[in-house]
Amino acid sequence: MEKLYEGKAKEVYSTEKSNEYIIRYKDDATAGNGEKKATIAGKGELNLAITTAIFEMLEEKGIKTHYIETLNNRDMRVKKVTILPLEVIVRNISAGSFAKRFGVEEGIVFSKPTFELSYKNDELGDPLMCEDHAIALGLVTKAEYDFLKDTTLEINELLKKFFEQINLKLVDFKIEYGKTDDGEIILADEISPDTCRLWDKDTNKKFDKDIFRRDLGDLIEGYKEVLNRMRG
Ligand code: TMP
Repeated sequence: MEKLYEGKAKEVYSTEKSNEYIIRYKDDATAGNGEKKATIAGKGELNLAITTAIFEMLEEKGIKTHYIETLNNRDMRVKKVTILPLEVIVRNISAGSFAKRFGVEEGIVFSKPTFELSYKNDELGDPLMCEDHAIALGLVTKAEYDFLKDTTLEINELLKKFFEQINLKLVDFKIEYGKTDDGEIILADEISPDTCRLWDKDTNKKFDKDIFRRDLGDLIEGYKEVLNRMRG
């Protein structure tokens, strides 16, 4: 295995198969575009287990993902894709950068989910972008943009239901897509408490990376609670 790429929370390795990668989940946590950093023992394992269960659920519901199988408590075998440099974000409830940008409190339940894109570029601070900007920069075609939006809103409905069943509100989330060598766009990266905001339905207690971003307590306890609820 040769390491092809190291990101903030994961590493990507080549495999004996030219159309497959291995993704290794790390214990590193960052926030604020890398300004805050820590290594939190157990985080990678928990995010891998949670992402595995979510990708398996989405595949069952007909969403195409890069997931092939989870090999151990660190590594996922995936289809090789080239990640689109877009952070695709859906919000059901105001929080985070939305609350800050528009000067509103967190917790406003939207009448319909919002769909937004950021340009994945650390040097520029991942700027917010609209449909026309993504097309102008040649990142997607109009048809690809429409596919991303429709698929992402469908994923939102599936995830909302999934988390509702375990008494969690899906406040918002970020996903990433990748293109296969055949040009097909499929869901990639991860879906975990690192990339979703999850609040307890009754108490609004946070079970996501805001625990780390805002020093709210023990991140591992929070992520373990999410996994335990998922496992019933
Ligand atoms: P935001 O409110 O900071 O824009 O975040 C919206 C959602 O996207 C939230 O669930 C956290 C997630 N997210 C990531 O997974 N990675 C990122 O780099 C950012 C900025 C947000």
